[in-house]
Amino acid sequence: MEDKAEEKTVDIEENKEGTREDKGDDLESKPIYKGLVGVVVDTTEICSIDGIKGSLYYRGYPIRELVEYSSFEEVAFLLLFGKLPSRFELEAFKDKLIQQRDIPDRILIILKSFPRNTTRIELLRTAISALSLYDEDDYDYSEQANIRKGMRIIGKIPTILAYSHRIQSNLPLVEPDTEGKLSHAANFYYMMTGNIPTKLVEDAFDKLLICHAEHALNTSTFAARVTVSTLSDIYSAIVSAIGTLRGPLHGGANERVILYMLNEIKTKKNVIPWAKEKIKNKEKIMGFGHRVYKTWDPRAYILREYAKKFSEMRRKQKDPDGIPTEFPGEEDVDSIFQMTEKLVDYVVKKKGIYPNVDLFSAPLLHGLGVPTPLYTPLFASSRCVGWVAHSIEQLKNNKLIRPRLRFQGELNKKYVPLDER
Ligand SMILES: CC(C)(COP(=O)(O)OP(=O)(O)OC[C@H]1O[C@@H](n2cnc3c(N)ncnc32)[C@H](O)[C@@H]1OP(=O)(O)O)[C@@H](O)C(=O)NCCC(=O)NCCS
Repeated sequence: MEDKAEEKTVDIEENKEGTREDKGDDLESKPIYKGLVGVVVDTTEICSIDGIKGSLYYRGYPIRELVEYSSFEEVAFLLLFGKLPSRFELEAFKDKLIQQRDIPDRILIILKSFPRNTTRIELLRTAISALSLYDEDDYDYSEQANIRKGMRIIGKIPTILAYSHRIQSNLPLVEPDTEGKLSHAANFYYMMTGNIPTKLVEDAFDKLLICHAEHALNTSTFAARVTVSTLSDIYSAIVSAIGTLRGPLHGGANERVILYMLNEIKTKKNVIPWAKEKIKNKEKIMGFGHRVYKTWDPRAYILREYAKKFSEMRRKQKDPDGIPTEFPGEEDVDSIFQMTEKLVDYVVKKKGIYPNVDLFSAPLLHGLGVPTPLYTPLFASSRCVGWVAHSIEQLKNNKLIRPRLRFQGELNKKYVPLDER
């Protein structure tokens, strides 16, 4: 004890002499990276983006090849386990996801009890939080348990979303296919719309899910990594991520794109006056710009091809492939795809900012007849694969993520008692 007291005295003496502690934190001289622009915080094996070339790789595979040759399930396996599955591994993985399609009765009761006119993303955020309470591995934080939890979340999200949307819209529930006749994409589409998709629709929807599955340290993934860096659980990471994705500067942009097309622009001749006004008022045009890409987002480029096909199909046939329409008066709106193309020409020329994934996912989802309130949560349903992969990677070599802020204001203010203020 005496020795300790002696050590302490020495410390205080050293401080008086002006040691490092005595100077305190020197945050004034440190640069501020507002929005963490350009800051590299760690390494990853999951995803690589070159924002100048406009390229994107999942585990080293170019996104275009994955879109062309693989399926959502295969990409999910790749992102979670770091390698492409063998046929046997893929079948086993698909089976496990199919087994997760049902949700606990209690979650359905909760979904039915939510107030009406609630955004689907809020319902999803709350339901995922509740789901953790029914997870049999709840207090097991091992990597294997995290993978099992992650797969439960990935398998159940489509059911939660479709159920919550249909409850809110007073539509009968469509139960998931638990026999495995339908792929992840086909089953998801079927539960949302009540229609079993044609091969063409299923394929396009599957590609859209692949394009959204992962995107390095985007803001919602960052939120997930920050959450698990405290050694919190994976459900909490997903809930943080969903709450972050919701904002219009991130995943909320896709819904806004279709709404401005249908409700504000409406005709091709109105595209340029509308965009001019936005630029004049220094308003953001959703679907353009990106923190990383300084050229076309490669996903926008891929989805553009599909958006073209389905946007035109929706116009030609009132009810293509049983696709329902939800916008009365839509027949008076010009082709969404053609309006989008005109907008791209103008915005790229005038502002030098390029389309991001949301600009073309919106007309594609619209063309596929996916209900608009589901656009943003649908993004979450696919991105949760990336969130799980990143949470696991963070925990493998964890370091608490905790940056600093430089305080601005007066210090050493004199405390004034309540009665004297
Ligand atoms: C994605 C986004 C948040 C990136 O933001 P960021 O890296 O912080 O870049 P900034 O918002 O600072 O933008 C840089 C400049 O481009 C302009 N800009 C960026 N995106 C713009 C957009 N969508 N519409 C109009 N101007 C835009 C900004 O006004 C700013 O111009 P200034 O330098 O004259 O002030 C931003 O581009 C944006 O808000 N886009 C619209 C929302 C969206 O589509 N989000 C989905 C992303 S996948």
